[in-house]
Amino acid sequence: MCGIVAYIGEKQAFPILLEGLKRLEYRGYDSAGISILNGTLKTVKKKGKVSDLEAVSATIDTTGTLGIGHTRWATHGKPDDINAHPHNSGDGTISLVHNGIIENYATIKKALEDRGHVFKSQTDTEVLVHLIEEFKNQDNLDLEQAVTKALSRVVGAYAIVVVDKENPNQIVAARKSSPLVLGIGDKEFYVASDASPIIKYTKKVVYLNDEEIAIANRDGSFVVKNIHNEIQEPVIQELDLKIEQLEKGGYDHFMLKEIMEQPTTIAESMRGRINAEEGWVSLGGLEEHQQRILNAHRIIFVACGTSWHSALIAEYLIEDLARIPVEVEYASEFRYRNPILTEKDVVIAISQSGETADTLAALEIAKEKGALTYGIVNVVGSSIARVTDSGSYIHAGPEIGVASTKAFTSQLVVLILMALKLGEKKGTIPSGMLRELIYGLESVPKKVAEILEQKEKIKLIAQEIQNKPNALYLGRGLNFPVALEGALKLKEISYIHAEGYPAAEMKHGPIALIDEDMPVFIVATNVSAHEKIVSNIQEVKARKGVVIAIVNEGDNIISGLADFTFEIPYIEEPLTPLLSVIPLQLISYYISVMRGCNVDQPRNLAKSVTVE
Ligand code: M6R
Repeated sequence: MCGIVAYIGEKQAFPILLEGLKRLEYRGYDSAGISILNGTLKTVKKKGKVSDLEAVSATIDTTGTLGIGHTRWATHGKPDDINAHPHNSGDGTISLVHNGIIENYATIKKALEDRGHVFKSQTDTEVLVHLIEEFKNQDNLDLEQAVTKALSRVVGAYAIVVVDKENPNQIVAARKSSPLVLGIGDKEFYVASDASPIIKYTKKVVYLNDEEIAIANRDGSFVVKNIHNEIQEPVIQELDLKIEQLEKGGYDHFMLKEIMEQPTTIAESMRGRINAEEGWVSLGGLEEHQQRILNAHRIIFVACGTSWHSALIAEYLIEDLARIPVEVEYASEFRYRNPILTEKDVVIAISQSGETADTLAALEIAKEKGALTYGIVNVVGSSIARVTDSGSYIHAGPEIGVASTKAFTSQLVVLILMALKLGEKKGTIPSGMLRELIYGLESVPKKVAEILEQKEKIKLIAQEIQNKPNALYLGRGLNFPVALEGALKLKEISYIHAEGYPAAEMKHGPIALIDEDMPVFIVATNVSAHEKIVSNIQEVKARKGVVIAIVNEGDNIISGLADFTFEIPYIEEPLTPLLSVIPLQLISYYISVMRGCNVDQPRNLAKSVTVE
């Protein structure tokens, strides 16, 4: 939700900021803007994409070695030029970019209006820059002091960068519940929402903690303090990221690149964690707290969106293989009720970004109640990775497309490893089965590659479905969450209304929707419930529904019934979601392209949801 980038140093700031905004555009693309300080404060902002901003900037003098930039996902105020960031103080000296929500902005705005402040936008952010201005002028404070004082008055979430025309040798950045990274170069500093705009220039970074303020000076010095004015010892980290990982690598879209990368990313997720020959599974973060997890009264997963679907699959696997009770919660619901939690529970957060606000808030509750917290996260150094007691990275590499694909399969790998390890330690998995599943896991990258090689066949199916207004996705057992994931992928990038349902629930309502115009995707790879899924297909066909079935290779029974069939290679049943989801990802991708949608940046969405 909103991307921030800033630069101070000896280079020209504008090209750095523009390129940074392009890298951050996945976080929001309603509008973009840049302020440059060069004697005067120049702000240019535009509704739409960073390319729209680039076009309007072409005629403006953008020279200057200090600047801030922003790409917006709108919360308060519609997407337009005025609501775009940066926002400037009334006297035009201070400029600010913000990611997050100032919850008490209305009260502050009223008080400032009473003191004569005039606001141009409908945003909560503009209130913050006026508040900083008010403290700076009224109390005769410097920028750093005024920012600190203003932040002590606001309620909500923020990552901000602020510059002041009267202090052209400094940028001030601060965070609370929204990510911010300080990049340290040679007598220069970068600030950004994530490391992607920074990596080209420096690998040395400091991830700010909540309620920390960084003051970066043109002479190369910097200070990190907290909101109570106490100096903090910054932890300088080395980034483990390559610039090529952030490029499309010859593909038309990041989503397709990320789908096609899955043989590699799946292998990366299990690298060093299994050995089929020797028959072992190892998951460092889990082993550190093994006894507590094995003895847990319950494992509670908290997550959102695709990560929530991974958690549903984990529920099936952990209960089946390790016999530990599991609950799966939408983080956004969990945080607002009064959940019963004790120190005997383990709360596992799953998140690609590691920054999802609802998931973070759910973890806070778990910590307060004394539960052990565990993070299954992709982005290294992200907030969830840092606040949890333990965890496992999924090692999928940067995921830029808003629709999550490779993160899903890598999450599944880690969750399968977790189920296997817990089952092994509990003695609930026979050793023969454990070894068979480890062998099965090792075969996944090759089998995913085989599926991807058939993408032309999937394109043909997509062609048949592309103009339908609705779609139903059905699955049983482990394939029910896969059906949910298939439906989410289709709706978010092609805007076709799609619903996922447990196949057996169809007769309790959704069957009324079925007619010759309703495509029904059936994930039918369950060996154990084959006859039942065949009956479900018969029920759809009897009502003239169009069946697209994902089946195990050689399943002539379902192939004979379905209108379209896609076969996946044989794999042990607990591992089938790793394969059955791949054709669904590709079908959604192709339909989105065929419908002329913006695949990587679907309307109204952003990659990382750092607001409630
Ligand atoms: O970064 P997270 O995994 O916490 O994100 C959760 C959801 O916002 C995310 O999965 C979202 O639903 C994706 N757009 C799905 O493709």
